Amino acid sequence: MFPLRRNRRLRTNEAIRSLVRETIITPNDFLVPLFVVEGKGIKEEIASMPNYFRYSLDLLENEVKELWSLGLKSVLLFVKVPDNLKDNKGAEALNPNGLMQLAIKTVKSACPNMLVMTDVALDPYSIYGHDGIIENGVIVNDDTAAFLAEMSVSHAKAGANFVAPSDMMDGRILTIREALEDEGYTDTGVMSYSAKYASAFYGPFRDALDSAPVDLENIPKDKKTYQMDFANRYEALRETEMDIDEGADIVMVKPGMAYLDILREIKNEFDVPVAVYQVSGEYAMIKAAAEKGWLNHDQIMLETTTAFKRAGADIIASYFAKDIVKLIS
Ligand code: PBG
Repeated sequence: MFPLRRNRRLRTNEAIRSLVRETIITPNDFLVPLFVVEGKGIKEEIASMPNYFRYSLDLLENEVKELWSLGLKSVLLFVKVPDNLKDNKGAEALNPNGLMQLAIKTVKSACPNMLVMTDVALDPYSIYGHDGIIENGVIVNDDTAAFLAEMSVSHAKAGANFVAPSDMMDGRILTIREALEDEGYTDTGVMSYSAKYASAFYGPFRDALDSAPVDLENIPKDKKTYQMDFANRYEALRETEMDIDEGADIVMVKPGMAYLDILREIKNEFDVPVAVYQVSGEYAMIKAAAEKGWLNHDQIMLETTTAFKRAGADIIASYFAKDIVKLIS
């Protein structure tokens, strides 16, 4: 008899579809990236990221309270550092009263239970827009890793729950973990950007923080000597395994949409929580197409974020977090 099984039976109406749905996203899945600037009363839209903003500390407070009321319980902080505070070695990153340190305290005082993760990398502080210290035209590894460990301790002191090194230096997870342990921050976690690719999808983010690599002689114009080649897959597994061995609590794949294969592979291979980052360029593409009326914004938002979870993400960092939670609630 043809056919014994008709798969369309389980798609007949929304009631049965929702009954058999395998992947459901909830506010618990999301990590909200936030951009912080100096000043007062500032909420400025990022040109290449429509409806996404940089906040000064006073307005950051309102924003995190709103996130909390929507059920969003984790944020990932980034700071835009004024040019006059940038140098080659990121000295400002260690300032106990620096913007990041104050942002951590601001979030914690507005919402004590909000989980605060911080970006650990030099690029927002670097006159060269690189994630490491430059010597003779080279982004040096070990000195950078040592510096990132100091930076992590500084964030932990300010109250960060997790540090999130996004730099891709070798060995930095161990260096950071040891520094946190030595200073007594045994409960401060490390979310490692483990499989982070050298990607053109980061363009709008570099606008947001004014952190693009500079165009100067003897300075690399891209990040290909430390971020991964997008052609590689096994390398992502090696990177991730090393970060876990060095003490990463959470690992991450970045960008998201073009790397779902890597995400699934890492989820299958390892038993630590896996995060994915739907990066600025992914957000910008969807916004731009929706503005033109070429794509349905909300449907695409739901489809892409659900796809991350289906592909194995335990945590989704996304600029859509607030909008998606409003949509699904
Ligand atoms: C830099 C950093 C980048 C992002 C997060 N941390 C950009 C880069 O590596 O150049 C990108 C995030 C995004 O595009 O949304 N340490």
